[in-house]
Amino acid sequence: MNLSCVGLGKLGLCSAACFAGKGHHVIGVDSSAEHMEALVSGRCPVDETGLPALLDGCRARMEFTPDYGYAVQHSDITLVTVPTPSDANGRFSNAYVEAVLDRIAGGLKAKKTFHVVALVSTVMPTTCEHVFVPILEKLTGKVCGRDFGFVYNPEFVALGSVIHDFLHPDMLLIGASDERSAQLCRELYSSVVENDPYYAVMNLTNAEITKLSLNCYVTMKISFANELALICERIPGADVDVVTTAVGADTRVGRRYLKGGLGFGGPCFPRDNLAFQRCAEDAGADANLSPRVVKVNGEVVNRLFTMVSEHALPGSTVALLGLSYKPGTHIIEESQSVMLAAQLLKAGYVVRMHDPKALGSVREALQGRGVYCEDPYDAVSGAGVVVMLTNWPQYNDLDVARLEEKSGAAPLLIDCWRIYRNATLKKFTYRAFGMVTAPTGGIAHDSRTDILYQDRRGRTPVLERTSVQHPALA
Ligand SMILES: NC(=O)c1ccc[n+]([C@@H]2O[C@H](COP(=O)([O-])OP(=O)(O)OC[C@H]3O[C@@H](n4cnc5c(N)ncnc54)[C@H](O)[C@@H]3O)[C@@H](O)[C@H]2O)c1
Repeated sequence: MNLSCVGLGKLGLCSAACFAGKGHHVIGVDSSAEHMEALVSGRCPVDETGLPALLDGCRARMEFTPDYGYAVQHSDITLVTVPTPSDANGRFSNAYVEAVLDRIAGGLKAKKTFHVVALVSTVMPTTCEHVFVPILEKLTGKVCGRDFGFVYNPEFVALGSVIHDFLHPDMLLIGASDERSAQLCRELYSSVVENDPYYAVMNLTNAEITKLSLNCYVTMKISFANELALICERIPGADVDVVTTAVGADTRVGRRYLKGGLGFGGPCFPRDNLAFQRCAEDAGADANLSPRVVKVNGEVVNRLFTMVSEHALPGSTVALLGLSYKPGTHIIEESQSVMLAAQLLKAGYVVRMHDPKALGSVREALQGRGVYCEDPYDAVSGAGVVVMLTNWPQYNDLDVARLEEKSGAAPLLIDCWRIYRNATLKKFTYRAFGMVTAPTGGIAHDSRTDILYQDRRGRTPVLERTSVQHPALA
């Protein structure tokens, strides 16, 4: 198929490359001259796992042009993946999409054959039918469903694994103005995906609601697990991982996104929640769950701040390991780690930070305040509190003895994801989300054996190493 892809950012460039990688001819358009320059000269302007190699392998089937008319004229379908930033009230702004519709309308008007415009960007429910389709009909004098088709086709991908997620979707959501456009879209996606996804074909409005609902449901799961972690921390013998592993084994629930830890962040989840609330208000309904989900999420940072301040006074050094909103990306939008850093700096702590990818963006966001360390051991140097935040896989392999050696006197280790739950700690006082880790004489619970024991020596509980792994965690 011949495709045009308008908007070649974090999502748009990955999907364009995936389509080209599977044999389609792709014409790419982006309003950023810098971006286009990079692409034309063979560079990859987006940092995403696997993208440079994928692009290198399919450049012969990709062309880049600033000419929107040319792109529409020489393709069967135009995919639009431009920003839809939240406005002051939390609704998605249509400004970028409308600018694109304005630019493609000339090509669409002149086109003699049926053409499909597929919007990928996240928008408020009813926008496609009540705003975008009328704009295109007015600008082209054509009738949607007869002369051209409009499709709402959002993706469910996560930064850091966009290409994998794009090629292996659980579901393909296709909201369409008409059968013909839906069928074209279905054919396009079935020619690129490497699995056998569920095709959810529906009208435009249902697809818009589905996109928001799915993301809000996932955040509800995250907040549920985080609230459960908070409860487990207060019940001797409780262990959030044991509980969520079992609860998630029920197919009605599922294990993904059901792990107590840091809250959600990033460019999509927080604003989708807010938009969902606005959508309910606009429809004259109440969204009761979403605000609670956001509240639970917001409390995670306060909890961490309290844990730090209970142990160390302002002026002390706090080490933060992991700053991006999730592993595998440099993106720090709505990152709880960065929120914590800002709160600690404001309170007068010395904050030393490490992240495999995000140091540059954090330095910019915090205007250079704090200490930026390329090496995690350097970050913990002299720290009275060490907080393990974003669960980058490389943190699992850190040498705990070396972390202890580098840290300051009587340090506290706060472990959001319990990655050191079974480590032998000699110097760190250990506190973890989701299980009782009282600083002195507390009850510890080794989930690998599911055996409770009391540290009678009145010191930080040291979890016994055992070769038996709890089946639930295997
Ligand atoms: N990134 C994700 O993982 C993700 C996931 C799901 C949904 N989305 C949605 O996809 C949309 C795009 O997100 P993104 O992360 O790719 O954004 P992005 O900011 O990384 O990329 C957007 C691109 O659009 C370009 N652009 C802006 N105006 C343009 C115009 N008039 N003509 C041509 N190009 C234009 C920009 O230069 C930029 O390269 C948003 O609505 C977002 O909510 C993103």
